[in-house]
Amino acid sequence: MARTTLTRFLIEQQRHANVLPGELRLLIETVARACKTISHAVSKGALGEVLGSLDSENVQGEVQKKLDVIANEMLLDANEWGGHLAAMASEEMETIHRIPNRYPKGEYLLLFDPIDGSSNIDVDLSVGTIFSVLRAPEACAGREVTEDDFLQSGRAQVAAGYAIYGPQTLLVLSVGTGVFEFTLDREVGSWVMTDADMKMPQGKCEFAINMSNRRQWSPGVTRYIDERVAGGAGPCGQDYNMRWTASMVADVHRILKRGGIFMYPCDHRTPGKAKLRLMYEANPMSFLIEQAGGAATDGFGAIMDVTPTGLHQRVGVVLGDRAEVETVTAYGQE
Ligand code: AHG
Ligand code: MN
Ligand code: MN
Repeated sequence: MARTTLTRFLIEQQRHANVLPGELRLLIETVARACKTISHAVSKGALGEVLGSLDSENVQGEVQKKLDVIANEMLLDANEWGGHLAAMASEEMETIHRIPNRYPKGEYLLLFDPIDGSSNIDVDLSVGTIFSVLRAPEACAGREVTEDDFLQSGRAQVAAGYAIYGPQTLLVLSVGTGVFEFTLDREVGSWVMTDADMKMPQGKCEFAINMSNRRQWSPGVTRYIDERVAGGAGPCGQDYNMRWTASMVADVHRILKRGGIFMYPCDHRTPGKAKLRLMYEANPMSFLIEQAGGAATDGFGAIMDVTPTGLHQRVGVVLGDRAEVETVTAYGQE
């Protein structure tokens, strides 16, 4: 049987499903190509002199890893001249990156977390790249794109996805017609579809949370986790398993494939604040999870309904199994 490559899939979406404008198709191909290059750099590790930290910090005060900066440059370089974008924004850059005047411009905005799970790079665990695509508002035609043009809710996303650099290099993508997984065939250099129409299994008893933050949680989150840790003898009446990779891409990918719930809730360290970023992490992952039949909230309401107020805004994240997300979100109001 003929293999479905990413290119073929995107052309079919454009022709038959009539949901994918040509410009967006080419933009996704460009992002996928950049992810291939990043995958290559990640896999070279110490041999490519890409491991370790830099002296610099990003806008959020986090120490930058060499690969954070390298992957950011790779995404900028690949996408700058394609003609599909008006501007880009990244977790690693203080403000937006407009397409320089020497290149043609397009109508889309691209947002990305170049390397997600940076703390795992140096110990050879899975990391990834997360991306989200918005349309530039019509109002910005004929003038320079501003940061405010990016502040659209997650519902406005026209595409989102991630690449995961693990035992296999995968690309998981949605353009609003379900979720599709592609595996990088390194010898041939193409992305080959390996999971068509991913739907996350419901009713699985597995949660992902950084338990070391327990003392910082809200009473609702503590109750939810304590009930699950109590297992068969507790109110859930069944045992739960726990996993925590500390790479959101890896944890979310596992949940898409085998179910469960992922949480990085707001906590008391920074009242009302959280760790994960709305525009580069929470929104794209919520888009994928909802498209796969799951749910995603900030502990109160749907993440994709949050109106962004800043490019680097952080948000509580509870996503995955619909019933579990509903339970913890209801407890969260306590
Ligand atoms: P990043 O490497 O882009 O800063 O993201 C790391 C995020 C996310 O991938 C993961 O779920 C979480 O941080 C892990 O945080 P802890 O180290 O606090 O567990
Ligand atoms: Mn991240
Ligand atoms: Mn990152």
